[in-house]
Amino acid sequence: MPPGVRLRVLPSGDGQVDLAREVREGLLRARKSLPCRFFYDAEGSRLFEQICSLPEYYLTRAEDEILARHASRIVAAVPAGAALVELGSGSATKTRRLLAAHVARGGRAAYAMVDISSSVLEDGARALVAEFPGLHVEAVAAEYQDGLALLSAEKRAPWLVLWLGSNVGNLDREQAAAFLGGIRARLAPEDRLLLGVDRRKDRLTLERAYDDAAGVTARFNANLLGRIDRELGGRFGEARFRHVAHYDEHAGRVEMHLESLTDQVVRIEALELEVVFRAGERIHTEDSYKYSDAEAEALATQAGFRLERAFTDGAARFLSVLLAPS
Ligand code: AVI
Repeated sequence: MPPGVRLRVLPSGDGQVDLAREVREGLLRARKSLPCRFFYDAEGSRLFEQICSLPEYYLTRAEDEILARHASRIVAAVPAGAALVELGSGSATKTRRLLAAHVARGGRAAYAMVDISSSVLEDGARALVAEFPGLHVEAVAAEYQDGLALLSAEKRAPWLVLWLGSNVGNLDREQAAAFLGGIRARLAPEDRLLLGVDRRKDRLTLERAYDDAAGVTARFNANLLGRIDRELGGRFGEARFRHVAHYDEHAGRVEMHLESLTDQVVRIEALELEVVFRAGERIHTEDSYKYSDAEAEALATQAGFRLERAFTDGAARFLSVLLAPS
């Protein structure tokens, strides 16, 4: 690690601990499923970076547009001595905008990041210290709650917590409120949380965003099976599945699935397991929840926050809400 960076890998980092157990449990369920947090090995993280610059995946650009326009207003919500604490290291461009605005107002050059993938953290931390001289980066490879617990025990200054990129959308609405409540419990009155939320919108835009013409999202989804092959001796490479992205408008979520194209049996060596698939049977791999403005505010309130400010992009696709503990 370069000077100015400390990287710590907690037991939940890199998803090693429970991949085997969760794959077994998920594939033995009547409705098969795999947890979306296992997308992000080195290959999945690389594919996700590609997704973020796809023409159909408007989320990253819309949020970046908001941050480009409002970064100085956002950082002005915390004292100059505050540290920026990011959950999911997200896109470096977005983080840079906030760090640059914070440093430009004479703010403390301190940044902490929590991400499940240590390779993503390493790359992100290297790029940031190269760009911001004197920046101190605390990088923690862990599940968010574990990483936040560690950083919170060492907290010496106010925090501007960043949870960007619609990451909250990968939790269902109840889990999202509980998770935000967990963050809230670690915050002091002068701390703030900047939350990036994707707005509800028309089906076509949403389904294209999760099923792009170049097939990158399909590869991202299928990498989950590739990961089982690489790490658990699976035989999905010889199996036949297709990527499905479907918007459930009532629930307000895009669902991703992998659908078996034939009747087939897939062996997973390390689990001594043979999984039977019928043609058309699906493995559910991800939900991505979308929020109306009222739903976003209700989520904040339920978690013990008050909505201080809300920003949207020119096309009103995305919402960045600045939340204060209530
Ligand atoms: C990381 N997360 C917010 C992305 C999303 O939009 O739900 C993951 C993703 N899945 C497919 N494309 C992007």
